[in-house]
Amino acid sequence: MVTLLVTAGPTREHWDDVRFVSNASSGRMGYAIAAAGRAAGCRTVLVSGPTHLEPPPGVELERVVSAREMLEVVERRFDGCDVMFAVAAVADHRPAARAAGKPAKTAGAWQLELVPNPDVVATVAARKGGRTVVGFALEAEPTVAAALAKLRAKRLDLIVLNATSALGAARSAATLVFEDGRSVTLPEQPKEALAATLVATALDLHRKKHA
Ligand code: CTP
Repeated sequence: MVTLLVTAGPTREHWDDVRFVSNASSGRMGYAIAAAGRAAGCRTVLVSGPTHLEPPPGVELERVVSAREMLEVVERRFDGCDVMFAVAAVADHRPAARAAGKPAKTAGAWQLELVPNPDVVATVAARKGGRTVVGFALEAEPTVAAALAKLRAKRLDLIVLNATSALGAARSAATLVFEDGRSVTLPEQPKEALAATLVATALDLHRKKHA
């Protein structure tokens, strides 16, 4: 049985116990991928940042809050997976420090120092071996060249290129960009339908890799 590892949702990067920086992401696409994985007969592990979504039935759910927690769980789960889908909108930065409780506001402007977060998918893809790793790229002006550069930098097998209009929407179009530079554009459709095609494409890539 193929094991699918999926990251989904945003991450939250706290500077105290109640305040945080985050990304706009509903988690919908990642949860749809996890559901499609189960429907395709995969054992499916879903590593999710905070969302309001119900986990799909039969999926092993690991809840996380921050990028560093997501990385910790993904590193623990990666060796046991065959195919990974990195759908999470991981915050690229986190506050340099975190205070306990809820410190009272001070008058006037203040500055928040941000430091870079680890890249979850790139960290594990660097030691992917025979695994197949799929990433997502959300761009205001999507281009195949930019997606391909991201695929190479992160050592992905496939990258799914979305426009920012996909954020929070029920429907999305997507362009699939493969390692050899080939690209296929899928028309706008419900995210569930898109997820089924993406899972079938990744499983097919994985099978061909091991044929
Ligand atoms: N990703 C990740 N960890 C991060 C940032 C991104 O795992 N810290 C993953 C996402 O899940 C996605 C892919 O990397 O699969 C692309 O993320 P994106 O935010 O589009 O790319 P970035 O490398 O952050 O580039 P930029 O923000 O400059 O567009």
